Amino acid sequence: MRKLLIIVLTFSLIFAFSAVGLAQSYTVGTSAGFPPFEYVEDGEIVGFDIDLMKAIGEEMGFEVTFEDIAFDSLIPALKTGNIDIVAAGMTITEERENAVDFTNSYYSANQSIIVQEGSEKNISVLYGDHDISVQTGTTGDLWITENLADKGILTGEVKRYDTFVLCVSDLVNGNVDAVVLDSPVAQRYSETRNVKIVGNIITGENYGLAVDEGNTELLDTLNEGLRRIRESGRMQEIIAKHFE
Ligand code: ARG
Repeated sequence: MRKLLIIVLTFSLIFAFSAVGLAQSYTVGTSAGFPPFEYVEDGEIVGFDIDLMKAIGEEMGFEVTFEDIAFDSLIPALKTGNIDIVAAGMTITEERENAVDFTNSYYSANQSIIVQEGSEKNISVLYGDHDISVQTGTTGDLWITENLADKGILTGEVKRYDTFVLCVSDLVNGNVDAVVLDSPVAQRYSETRNVKIVGNIITGENYGLAVDEGNTELLDTLNEGLRRIRESGRMQEIIAKHFE
């Protein structure tokens, strides 16, 4: 009897440990330099999207590791399976929907125009011979390209960079006239760098987490996670931590 008990106990221990060892783990791709959603602090990637993914993982029972890559490489990385999830303040757009599947939206934004803090410039920087910098492949990039540059309304240069950190540095150094970027991020940069918002473009964007097209199981898990952390109040806590 005792022997049997020991055997049963041993097996349940082995089972318990292997269950822990097998905990599902997902690689989350993000693109830092987009405060307060994702940015590097003391060598670590932190921010709203990072805390959001950790909370969903805890709620739904999976681990997350993060990879910081160029924004326009995120969807290709999903397609090749190098990452499982995109959490990068990515706007749900029709074009992207052709390649990936988005969760329900978790945040809304517009575009803002920022210039140097002491500058006299206003929204007219979007017209004529002005240089504007944007992050490659973002909705701000697409908006400026389609509505202004391609139409010859903006005749200066559209400078594309891998990160907004580079865009903002270029602005602060006086190499471009303005940067166009998501409104919550423009707001944060205006508090932390020598730049100011001079106007908004009302694009009515919604951010979603993305998975590869057809990965319904993971998509459902993420949507359920979002639902639960909203219901439990955890979402509100994460918003408060990063936005207030
Ligand atoms: N919301 C914009 C877009 O989807 C910009 C996102 C940039 N995100 C980032 N992590 N740098 O195109």
